[in-house]
Amino acid sequence: MRFNKLFTVLGLLGTSLIKANASRSDFYGKNDYRPELFKILDDHIATIKIDFDNETWETMKQKSVLEPWDAGKNGEKYGTTNATLEFFVEGTDYRVDLQPGDFNFYLAGKGSRNYGKPGYNIKLEKGSIYDVKLLRLRSNIRDATLMREKLSSDLLYKMGVKTTSTNYANIIVNGEDIGLFVLTNKIKKDLIKKYFNDKTINDLYECKLDYARFEDNSIIEHCNNIKDELVDDKDDLQNLVDAVNNAKSVDDIKDLIDIDAVLTTFAFEFVTLSWDHFFILGHNYFWYKNPQSGKWMMILNDFDETFCQDIWSNYFTDDSRYISKPYIPNLEYLNLPNLAVRDMDSGHKLVKLLIYDDDTRWREILGEVVKKAFNPSVLFPRIDEIAELIHDDLAVSREILEETGRARGVFNTAGYDPKWTVTQFEDTTNYINWAANNGASRSYGLKFFIEERFKYICHTYGINPETLELIQPRPVVSFWGIKNKYPFACPESENCYVEGNVKFSFPDLDKELYMQESYNADAEKNKDPQEYQYVPTYHEQGEQQSPVNDATTTTTTTTVVVAEPTNVETTCWSEKLGYPCCNNSCYAFTTDNDGEWGYEDGHWCGVPASCSQEKCWSKKYGYECCQGCTAYEVDEFGKWGYEKNHWCGIIEENCQ
Ligand SMILES: *[C@@H]1O[C@H](CO)[C@@H](O)[C@H](O)[C@H]1NC(C)=O
Ligand SMILES: *[C@@H]1O[C@H](CO)[C@@H](O)[C@H](O)[C@H]1NC(C)=O
Ligand SMILES: *[C@@H]1O[C@H](CO)[C@@H](O)[C@H](O)[C@H]1NC(C)=O
Repeated sequence: MRFNKLFTVLGLLGTSLIKANASRSDFYGKNDYRPELFKILDDHIATIKIDFDNETWETMKQKSVLEPWDAGKNGEKYGTTNATLEFFVEGTDYRVDLQPGDFNFYLAGKGSRNYGKPGYNIKLEKGSIYDVKLLRLRSNIRDATLMREKLSSDLLYKMGVKTTSTNYANIIVNGEDIGLFVLTNKIKKDLIKKYFNDKTINDLYECKLDYARFEDNSIIEHCNNIKDELVDDKDDLQNLVDAVNNAKSVDDIKDLIDIDAVLTTFAFEFVTLSWDHFFILGHNYFWYKNPQSGKWMMILNDFDETFCQDIWSNYFTDDSRYISKPYIPNLEYLNLPNLAVRDMDSGHKLVKLLIYDDDTRWREILGEVVKKAFNPSVLFPRIDEIAELIHDDLAVSREILEETGRARGVFNTAGYDPKWTVTQFEDTTNYINWAANNGASRSYGLKFFIEERFKYICHTYGINPETLELIQPRPVVSFWGIKNKYPFACPESENCYVEGNVKFSFPDLDKELYMQESYNADAEKNKDPQEYQYVPTYHEQGEQQSPVNDATTTTTTTTVVVAEPTNVETTCWSEKLGYPCCNNSCYAFTTDNDGEWGYEDGHWCGVPASCSQEKCWSKKYGYECCQGCTAYEVDEFGKWGYEKNHWCGIIEENCQ
C-alpha cells in the first residue's frame, strides 16, 4: 500500500524534526490533563484497522447514502459488534487490539451525514483506548483546512475550558483505506467525572435538537439528561429556565449560574463566529450543574463549524422572534470579521443580562481570551504545526480515485461533496478564502479571518494589539460595522457562483468606512453604526408592547416599500395604534400592513407620511444625500457618492 510507505517515511521525518524542535505537546503546558490518547497523537497520526465481514461493510456504505437534509432524520446508526480492531501509532510502541464483542463500530454524525464522506463511532463495551471509551471519527469534509475541530479544542484548552480533545487517525476497513479522519472523544460521564470531580452527574443535559433556548422553554424539550433513568426528571433544569426567564438583572441568577464560565463559552462562540452552538442554532452544547458549586454552566462540543466556516446571511435573521436585524446585508456585502454581539445574538435573555446590561465583565473575559489564546502569535504557529502534521496524509486522503471519481471514504453519493483539494488546504490554512458552490461550503482563510477578527475585537473592546492588555480607562472608539460598501470578488472566475470551487476575496476592504483614518480619528462622533441602526431586542424593550414580532414575520426583505404620496396626511397614522410618529428620521426598520416603523428614544414610532415627500431618497437606507454629483457606484436604489468619509445618495434632479 503506497500510503503506508509514505506514512513510514513521514514518520521518520517527523521523529527527527521533533528531536530538533519541540513537540506539539508543548502547547498544553506542564499540567496537560487531556486523556492519554490525545497526548500520544500530538506528533503522530494514528492508524485504526477494522475487519469484519464484507457484506456488513457494503451495507454500511449503502446506508450512508442520504439526500442532503434527509440525513438528520434518517441517518441510521448502522454498524457491527462482530469485528476486530488494531489501533497503533507507526514508529512507536503504542498499540491496542480489540476482539469481536469488545466494541461497536457504526455510522455516526448528524449534520455531517448530509455530506459525502460519512463519519463513524467506535464505542468500547469495556476498557478504553488510552483512556477514551468513545472515539468519534469525523471526515469534516466541509472544512477545507480539516483543522477547525482541532484548532477549536486547542483554543478552548488555552482558554481554560474543559471539553473534548482532538487529533487525527487514518482508517482502514477490511483492507480498504478510507482516508484521514478527525478523532475526538465525546462529553460522557467519564469525562465529567475526571474534569469536574463529580461522582453523581445528575445534572448533565445534552441539547442536541436545534433551537434550544430559554424564553420559549424549548431547553426543556430539546435537552435530555444523559442518564436514562433521569430523562423524565426535569425539575432542576426547569428551575434554571424559570430563573433566567424571570430575572430582572444578573444579580437574580448569579448564585445559580457560573457567570464567568457562561461568558467564556459565549466568548468562544463570539471570537470564532461559531453558529452551531448556543447563540444561533441552539444545539451541540450541554447544560451542566456542578454539585460542588451548585452552579450551572454550558459545555460546548462539536467544533467543525467555527472560525467563520459556512456562514450564510440568513443565520442571523432566521429566528426573528426576539430580535430584528433587517440591516444584515447579503453575503457579498457582509463583513463577517466585524460581527458584533448584537449581529450574532438571536435575542437571548441571557445575552441581555450578561452582556447588554453591562459589558464590563464581558470585556474583561474577552481580554483574557485574546491574551491567552485568540491572537495571531498563539494561533498562527499552531496552525502551521498542525498543517505540517496532516499535510501529506490529507493529500493522499483527498486524491480522487479513478474507480469512483471520488476521494477515499466518500460513499454518500447523494450528499454534498465540496471536493476540497490539498491546494485549497494550503490556501485556507493561510489567507485565501475558497467557496465550494456545489458542495455548499465556504471556507474562509484561517489566518485571514483570525487577523481581521483579532483587529476588530482589539479595536472594539479597547485591547492593545501589541501588549494584549486592556486599555484603561476603556476608550471610546469609532464603530466598525458589518455592512461593506464593496462586495466580495472572485477575480479568477467568471463570477462567484460558477460550478465547482472558487477563490473569493475582499479587494476593496481598505476603502470601507471603518478603515479610514479620519473616521477612526473622530471616535466620539462615529461611535454608533453609520450605515444601519440597531433595534433593541425583545427583552430590552421590556414590558412595553411592540410590533416587532408581528412586523418581522410579515416582512421578508429589508427593502422598504414607500407608499405613493397621494395627499400628504398631516395627522400621525400610528397614533391610533398607540405609537407616536418618528421625529428624527425617516429610517424604517421594518414594514408591516400598517406602514413603516422606525425606532426613536426607546420606543417604536410610525414613519410619518411626510417622509415619502423626502427628497433625499437614501435617508431611508440610513445615508444622507450628497452635496456633489460624483457617483462611485450605481445600484438598484440609485447613484451613490462618497463625501466626508460617508456614502451618500445623489439626488438626480440636482445634478442635471
Ligand atoms: C462474526 O463474523 C465472522 C466472520 O467475520 C463469522 O464467521 C461469525 O459467524 C460471526 N459471528 C457472529 C456471532 O455473527
Ligand atoms: C473483503 O474484501 C477485501 C477486498 O475486496 C478482501 O481483501 C478481504 O479479504 C475480504 N474480507 C473478508 C473478511 O472476506
Ligand atoms: C415627536 O414629537 C411629538 C411632539 O413633541 C411628541 O409628542 C412625540 O412623542 C414625538 N415622537 C417621538 C417618536 O419621539
